[in-house]
Amino acid sequence: MKIEEESTDLINLKNFLDYNGKIEEKDVTFQKLMFIYKMAIKELDTKIEIFKEEFKTFYDYDLVDHVNTRIKSPKSIIQKMKKKECKLTYREMIENINDIAGIRVVCPLQKDIYSIKNLIQSIPGIETLKEKDYITQPKESGYSAYHIILGVPVMLSQQLIYVKVEVQIRTMAMDFWSSLEHKMKYKPNEEPSKKKAKEWVNCAKTINKLDEKMMLLNE
Ligand code: GTP
Ligand code: MG
Repeated sequence: MKIEEESTDLINLKNFLDYNGKIEEKDVTFQKLMFIYKMAIKELDTKIEIFKEEFKTFYDYDLVDHVNTRIKSPKSIIQKMKKKECKLTYREMIENINDIAGIRVVCPLQKDIYSIKNLIQSIPGIETLKEKDYITQPKESGYSAYHIILGVPVMLSQQLIYVKVEVQIRTMAMDFWSSLEHKMKYKPNEEPSKKKAKEWVNCAKTINKLDEKMMLLNE
């Protein structure tokens, strides 16, 4: 591993490991990269936890119900790269796969999504690389959530490195819908039917109404 002269320079992850190596699941480079993604999750997870506890302690308010984190498995990383027709190199992986590190923030109410999103985006050093509002504009499937791709700085002994993290922010109701819909979507031996897809969109609409009602009840 090359250690840069200017130790506190912020560098992009793709410039950290200094080669265009071909991806090997069991390779040490893969493990080093996954370590850095894990540390980025840890950084962000801690910061969100602090907001959660702060709101509870100071304002007696549950801004966040819970947070889930995950690292994409090597198998699904490679699968996605093939689907996107990427060359199977580390550089292409870092550039094109935005959800290797994933954090899901589940909030009680719809308005909490925007509060926690603004708080996360105002953390010093954190950059917003991409943003998708599937709440005001749900996906065709009915899927609703707020997505942000962040650049999260990870401080190593010699360098500060920017790492991409995908944050999905949802209400508990949206989370309930997407967990079930996801399971159904990837059920083996079952043909996805148009009729069912329409029913899922209807369920999403019902859930959306429920979210709005709950928010009014809380005012
Ligand atoms: P991909 O990760 O390749 O899908 O990239 P993208 O740019 O299309 O990302 P997008 O923000 O649309 O969605 C990324 C993630 O959101 C997925 O990996 C899922 O976790 C979630 N998601 C998106 N659409 C759906 C959906 O229709 N149903 C469910 N259950 N989850 C979804
Ligand atoms: Mg994904």
